[in-house]
Amino acid sequence: MCGIFGYVGHQNALPLLVEGLRRLEYRGYDSTGVGLKHNDTIELLRAVGKVGSLQTVLPSSHNATVGIAHTRWATHGGVTEANTHPHASFDGEVHLVHNGIIENFRQLKAQLSASGITCSSETDSEVLAHHIALALKEGRTPQEAVANVLSRARGTWGLCILFTSHDLLICARHGSPLILGKGDGEMFISSDPHALAHHTNRVIYLEDGDMATVTEEGVDLSRLTGQHVEANVTVLDQNWGESELGDSPHFMHKEIYEQPDALRHCIAGRVERTLGRGRLGGMRLTNDVMVQTPYVGLLGCGTAYHAAEIGKMLIESMARLPAVANISSEFRSNDPVINPKALHLAVSQSGETADTIAAIREIQLKGGQAFGVVNVVGSTIARLCGQGVYIHSGPEQSVASTKAFTNMVAALTIFATQIGRTGNLSRAEGRAIMEGLQQTPHLMEAYFDDVGPIDEAVELVANAKSVLFLGRGLSAPVAKEGALKLMEIAYIPCLAYPAGEMKHGPIALLEEGSPVVIVAPNDHVKDKTLSAIHECRARGARIILIHEKGDPIEQEGDVSIGVPAVHPQLTPLLTVLPLQLLAYRTAIKLGCDVDRPRNLAKSVTVE
Ligand code: G6P
Repeated sequence: MCGIFGYVGHQNALPLLVEGLRRLEYRGYDSTGVGLKHNDTIELLRAVGKVGSLQTVLPSSHNATVGIAHTRWATHGGVTEANTHPHASFDGEVHLVHNGIIENFRQLKAQLSASGITCSSETDSEVLAHHIALALKEGRTPQEAVANVLSRARGTWGLCILFTSHDLLICARHGSPLILGKGDGEMFISSDPHALAHHTNRVIYLEDGDMATVTEEGVDLSRLTGQHVEANVTVLDQNWGESELGDSPHFMHKEIYEQPDALRHCIAGRVERTLGRGRLGGMRLTNDVMVQTPYVGLLGCGTAYHAAEIGKMLIESMARLPAVANISSEFRSNDPVINPKALHLAVSQSGETADTIAAIREIQLKGGQAFGVVNVVGSTIARLCGQGVYIHSGPEQSVASTKAFTNMVAALTIFATQIGRTGNLSRAEGRAIMEGLQQTPHLMEAYFDDVGPIDEAVELVANAKSVLFLGRGLSAPVAKEGALKLMEIAYIPCLAYPAGEMKHGPIALLEEGSPVVIVAPNDHVKDKTLSAIHECRARGARIILIHEKGDPIEQEGDVSIGVPAVHPQLTPLLTVLPLQLLAYRTAIKLGCDVDRPRNLAKSVTVE
């Protein structure tokens, strides 16, 4: 949520900042701005809209070699130029960009009013700039001023601060990620490591409570309390994947079609065929621990929650062990009972989702163990859990998650076989599932070679008042995921229900021509799903049916889209593909901004 980029060094800062913003735009894109320092002046350039809008107000060149930049997803205050970061202090001394929320900003603002200082924006962030400037006026050094103000602030921050009269940047982190990249005589700052990868692979992850003084020579790290800390340099993985758009029309398109390869990366080295299971080394689970586990708890938001729901079913079915999937944002407020022997899996593409982080903290506070099922290496969740599994999807930049979903499901499938083999799952069945998983990338490719009549399905949904998505068993979360995708990027109201529940309410919506998407692969609940198809059809609904290729059920759909046959426990990895394409092509037809849907952000770092 919101992106920060900063630079100090010998190069021209402006193109680097713009490039950094472009890479971070998926984190928020209401408005963008840069602050450029040259000699003892700082120039602010800001615009409502995406980076493209900012570029229209930027000079063609600028001599600054130091600067900060921000792309915003509004929380406090509307989308206006005044609310766009960077924010400047009343005396022009302090300029800052901020991610997070300052909870006591009203109180801090009242203190400013008492000193005769008026804020020019409605944001919570601006108050920090004025307070730091006041602290400087009282004779403090920049480091002392920042530490003093942050000791009075409540909330979360990733902060990057520029000073008119000091040749340094100060960065601070508390609950909102900030990473420093070390170059040769230059330093980069970013809220996301993937924006640094093109400049350097040597990075320093700031921890909560850290403050860093950054100059072109390097970084001086301390706690807000003043205690010095040694900067821990981590080397970024060079095989993280391609983050450029290349020849693809949109990131979502690129990421949908990357799924076969992404899946290969996820399962590579994790299959123990002869033992009939997978193994996730980073979980560091012994058989004893798995046998003694009373239940598995899974957590996630949005797409990650849907993957967690599938994981829950797979674990229960393979391990005969109770499992529960929780929406992270509900978890902490419901005062959950935590058993220290239970395993909790926090599922997240970004590894930065604030609700999931809060849920992990709740588990850890109550003595429980949490494991990350995460895409972004070195992200907050990965580091907070300290154990878990990387899903290895590579960079995912479209707001609507696709390849992370399939890899989350794959990683949870591997986990289910691993824990399943300590109990109920036979070696033969485990082997069949793992072999099926190894074939799935080819099956995905086979589907992409012939995606079926997606455009006919688009015709049915594009102008619909609403679309109902139904599925049973493993296909119920897939139906939810399909509905989420279409709603997120094409803005069509979508409802997803387990097929059997349809007659208890959603059926009331159906009228002549209502589109209903039904996910009915060839599994043990298919016949029951068939009844739902008949019930919808009897009310005049038009059925878009996702089914196994060659299955006679295909006659039941008005538009039938077949996916290759696969082991029944693996169907979500294939049935979700046409739903992703349906959303993508509908959004294109309706002229929507596929990769940057309105009001959403890729990574939601506020609760
Ligand atoms: C946001 C995104 C969704 C994503 C969810 C969870 O809502 O728009 O696409 O599924 O966050 O994100 P995470 O990074 O934790 O998987």
